[in-house]
Amino acid sequence: MKIMSTNIHLVGISGSLRKVSYNTALLKAAQELLPENVTIEIAEIGNLPLYNSDIDGELRPQSVNDFRNILAKADAFLFVSPEYNYAIPGALKNAIDWASRGEDSPIINKPVALMGATRGLWGTTRMQQAFRPVFQYLNMIPVNKPEVLVAQVQTKFDSNLQLIDEQTKSIVRQQLEALKNLTLRFKD
Ligand SMILES: Cc1cc2nc3c(=O)[nH]c(=O)nc-3n(C[C@H](O)[C@H](O)[C@H](O)COP(=O)(O)O)c2cc1C
Repeated sequence: MKIMSTNIHLVGISGSLRKVSYNTALLKAAQELLPENVTIEIAEIGNLPLYNSDIDGELRPQSVNDFRNILAKADAFLFVSPEYNYAIPGALKNAIDWASRGEDSPIINKPVALMGATRGLWGTTRMQQAFRPVFQYLNMIPVNKPEVLVAQVQTKFDSNLQLIDEQTKSIVRQQLEALKNLTLRFKD
């Protein structure tokens, strides 16, 4: 008997625009740690204009339409972000604002997992808390556990931005597995 397997497609977004971003490196590491039958596409946010409802709707810029089209293919999302001033970095919040509008919003009602890395000691806890009301407003379904809070990130990646910390790899794998299971529960 052939066992049918359901494929899950994720879209991943890094909240940092830096070329040598640890969070982008963590997203790329996650790409290598995906569970079976899960794929991921990384969506870029650096070229999006600042949100302005005067140019939303019919006047929406092409860069925003392209971004939303990538998101529309996702069964679920993976956001990997630094914490800026105890909150969500503006570039990432801006991207989410563009994705959130209209009945054809490609993110509302979908599962999401959140990871964050910082050189500091608290691993982006406040940024992750700041995301809760955003998920709530968008009726997104967040993975609650495990949390991926990568503190002192500079000790967990080598100079080529490769993840070398086994404990971090393990928790990333566990969260991706949890996202897969959550998505399967809500798919169709
Ligand atoms: C504008 C700004 C605000 C920051 N605020 C915080 C903060 O609130 N908490 C924290 O742990 N680190 C903070 N940092 C330090 C970042 O965590 C650190 O720069 C991190 O490496 C950024 O992630 P990236 O390597 O993916 O770009 C801040 C950095 C910047 C540039």
